Amino acid sequence: MNTPIVESWKPKAKSDRPSRTDIGKYYPDPSRTNFWKSEEAGKYEDFATSIPSDHPAYDVVHHLVNPKDKHVLDFGCYQGQSSKWLLDAGAARVVGVDNVAENIAQARQKFRDCANLSFLEVPSQALLPSDLEFDSAAMTFVHPAINNKTDLFSAILKTQLSLRPGGSLTMLGLHPNSFFESARFLYYGHQIPAKIADGVPFQNELRLPGGQVIRFIDFHWRTETLVSILHDTRFAACEVIDLTLDLPGPAGDALRKSVESLDQDWKGEWKIPLYQIIQARK
Ligand SMILES: C[S@@+](CC[C@H](N)C(=O)[O-])C[C@H]1O[C@@H](n2cnc3c(N)ncnc32)[C@H](O)[C@@H]1O
Repeated sequence: MNTPIVESWKPKAKSDRPSRTDIGKYYPDPSRTNFWKSEEAGKYEDFATSIPSDHPAYDVVHHLVNPKDKHVLDFGCYQGQSSKWLLDAGAARVVGVDNVAENIAQARQKFRDCANLSFLEVPSQALLPSDLEFDSAAMTFVHPAINNKTDLFSAILKTQLSLRPGGSLTMLGLHPNSFFESARFLYYGHQIPAKIADGVPFQNELRLPGGQVIRFIDFHWRTETLVSILHDTRFAACEVIDLTLDLPGPAGDALRKSVESLDQDWKGEWKIPLYQIIQARK
């Protein structure tokens, strides 16, 4: 039997855990404030690039997006790192889109020397320019950053409209099972929605091996809700993929290969799914 690797992180007693009313400590008003504009959010890409448990999830996204020689949309690109990974995975061209102007400015500055990588601010209420058409789109950790169903619906609709027929949208987010007491992850913790319902905020905490911590609020969207929005926005097909080492087929092979390539034994981490991917085809 594999020993769970997360020995060092002991969950606190339930009573010690933050409650919904403590949330303001980390993120003053989850309904109104956009964390992704804040200075604290600036640390996020350091975490995204340093937390090894994320890498296999992105590798599976890249396998499913299959970006080789394609025009790819990275919807909700923050400061561009996830777009650059799609380019590095072989895309012919990547356009990163975000609704926060400051993030787009940073992304342009950071990746100004990268050919075939461009960034565009698209406000929540606006469509993408009609002359942009993509073979594939990725939304990595974007739906958990959206706090209301109207914006969620509109984000998914906008990607649908910008895809060519047959194109795919690949969405990566936390798996609802990761909320259970039995799920323990080395660098993630404290994911405690008050209940598993649409739009419920919960605190997410990422820890680096050096002890640095970033805390932010995510919003839970039930798998059924995401699937039903994909249906209502006229995607033709949809598949829900739970990322565990038992995942069958080529996506599972991509996951296993990626987990095995890490320089630490992460297998314990991939038994209860931390992540879920939903892929829809237009
Ligand atoms: C957690 S970050 C994910 C960044 C990146 N995709 C990654 O994988 O690291 C979420 C991003 O989604 C953006 N976002 C949220 N709602 C959006 C919307 N309606 N339109 C465009 N971007 C949005 C936020 O501004 C933020 O930059």
